Amino acid sequence: MPLNVHPDIASLSPYVPGKPIEELQRELGLVRIIKLASNENPLGPSMKALAALGQGIETLHRYPDGGAFRLREALADRWKVTPDQVILGNGSDEILGLLARTFLAPGDEAIMADQTFVIYKMEVMAAHGKPVIVPLKQWRHDLQAMADAITDRTRLLFLCNPNNPTGTMVSASEVERLLSRVPAHTIVVFDEAYFEYVRSRQFPDSMAYVKQGRNVIVLRTFSKIYGLAGLRIGYGVTTAEITNFLNRVRPPFNANSLAQRAALAALGDDEHVARSRSVNEAGMEQMVKGLTALGFSPIPSEANFLYVDIGRDGRLVFEAMLREGIIVRHIEGRMVRVTIGREEENREFLAALKLVIHSH
Ligand SMILES: Cc1ncc(COP(=O)(O)O)c(C=O)c1O
Repeated sequence: MPLNVHPDIASLSPYVPGKPIEELQRELGLVRIIKLASNENPLGPSMKALAALGQGIETLHRYPDGGAFRLREALADRWKVTPDQVILGNGSDEILGLLARTFLAPGDEAIMADQTFVIYKMEVMAAHGKPVIVPLKQWRHDLQAMADAITDRTRLLFLCNPNNPTGTMVSASEVERLLSRVPAHTIVVFDEAYFEYVRSRQFPDSMAYVKQGRNVIVLRTFSKIYGLAGLRIGYGVTTAEITNFLNRVRPPFNANSLAQRAALAALGDDEHVARSRSVNEAGMEQMVKGLTALGFSPIPSEANFLYVDIGRDGRLVFEAMLREGIIVRHIEGRMVRVTIGREEENREFLAALKLVIHSH
């Protein structure tokens, strides 16, 4: 039977995630696999989060607290806002979808970069909005061009900072200039999934704009430095007015009970966060050095991954690396993204890459 699917949906392609370890094990019969494809924390979850999960399993027959009282309180306390300014998502991914469904009427515009997190475009199109694509300039968001692209119909402007897949950031002064040009009818979405890894002192204080009552939302996640990607939990901090609208669209139990518990414990585990940061810093240095020694020029990154022009067909390199038991991410053309792993993982990645580029 022919289906009647809206062209906005029919034209989408499903999101292609990083290849799961078990899939590669099945396909190639390899035992040891190193996954550097999805910007996960190579140290794993916080032990405190694991302990909290254990305590949560006996009440799995109950629905979660749909209002996520304790976690929202803790996040509000952390960011010095009120709990009604915090919204949780089944991953911050889900909040991107809520934003599109809540604020876009058919044909409304949403501005985003050409090379950025692909979910923005998918969610905007699924909500029948119009993605307005602004090319990166020297691998960074071109905030001037993004501001120029704003029209009466612009409802959302996505600013991925640091940007995935480039790892680059825009500074506080650049953001300040952008915001001076953003009208009230446009919500700026600061997607800061990699915030905790950032070292630059020029990084904007986006929460300050929330506190000023501007129409902005800051998205953060427990999937990256907190090491809880598998549980799916992220959050947004914004005005109470915006959460109020988002909550009308949000599924009532979108943040599951184990995720809520684990996130609360992880949020309090400063030691795990600090260790994860320092392992990333050391690994970043190791990877930049190693890639440079192989003749590549990775783009300087503020996150936990590097974006590299691999000098040849990136898909072939991705596939050849798979045969070496290493999963990276082919983004497009010659561009490959690699997550910073533990010291030995980085070492094995660099050794395998050396082998692969000599045969390609
Ligand atoms: C920029 C960016 N935003 C959001 C997400 C989604 O994270 P979550 O796991 O919280 O849905 C990711 C995950 O890769 C990301 O890179």
